[in-house]
Amino acid sequence: MGLLDGHQALVTGAGSGIGRATCLRLRQEGALVALLDIDGEAAAVVAEELGGGPVVVADVSDGEAMDAAVQRVAAELGGLTILVNNAGVGAVKPLHRYSDREYDRIVDVSMRGTFNGIRAAAPMMLEAGRGSIVNVSSISGMRPTRGEAPYAASKAAVIALTQSAALEYGPILRVNCVSPGLIETPLTAPLMGDEKTRASFDRKTPLGRVGTAEDVASVIAFLCSDMAAYVTGINLPVDGGSLLPSSQVEGVLTAILSLSD
Ligand SMILES: NC(=O)c1ccc[n+]([C@@H]2O[C@H](COP(=O)([O-])OP(=O)(O)OC[C@H]3O[C@@H](n4cnc5c(N)ncnc54)[C@H](O)[C@@H]3O)[C@@H](O)[C@H]2O)c1
Repeated sequence: MGLLDGHQALVTGAGSGIGRATCLRLRQEGALVALLDIDGEAAAVVAEELGGGPVVVADVSDGEAMDAAVQRVAAELGGLTILVNNAGVGAVKPLHRYSDREYDRIVDVSMRGTFNGIRAAAPMMLEAGRGSIVNVSSISGMRPTRGEAPYAASKAAVIALTQSAALEYGPILRVNCVSPGLIETPLTAPLMGDEKTRASFDRKTPLGRVGTAEDVASVIAFLCSDMAAYVTGINLPVDGGSLLPSSQVEGVLTAILSLSD
């Protein structure tokens, strides 16, 4: 028996990284899964890995397309009980170098895309009397980083949207959020660099390694399931402990500790 037997799920950004791993995990737990991505070919490859499932080619920032996607998926799967708003794009550059277009794209996909997903799915879930929505934010939305201003701001907005929606749609729906730390996916491939850089990311993470897409997918599956039946409106970091406060003199303290071994 799976955690999600009898559920019907829609995952956005399903063709890669965390979205792909989430589709696989939700299916493994017994849910029927529909895949939405702007890149239809990538989503079709993941659908094959799942052994089938509706593929919707759509841009999450297009409200009408999201409404249509939700209606189509519910008709094909026989309902919709789970929505994972995962699609997101990022960039790294100084704040003053972002063009209007770049800003719009990042904010539209993360913030408007999450809003569109909730707006499209919530009425149907309310009518059915049950549903769980999980949004994918980022630790950048909690502790902003240099070079990611539009991304960090839009991910903070995803946390606020989660909380508003949890208040509005309880007690019938649960709405939660995960905030991944550094996870190895195509999105972060340019940051990983060479082996030395990668090893330093591992070393600086309290759990000793960069995360995997599966690490995030299993927490999303948990939040979708009845195991989290009394959990709503939370933002759960999945970051290997990297948000824990560290001291300015960390290097010195580590050296002293290792001397006292
Ligand atoms: N990888 C990380 O370290 C990390 C950390 C924190 C948060 N996140 C968040 O996790 C989510 C997934 O990231 P990932 O690393 O798996 O990225 P990824 O680039 O591997 O996958 C993103 C997927 O979203 C799709 N997509 C992009 N724009 C879209 C749009 N407008 N409409 C529909 N689909 C669209 C892409 O085609 C792609 O398949 C994103 O919201 C990202 O911000 C990732």
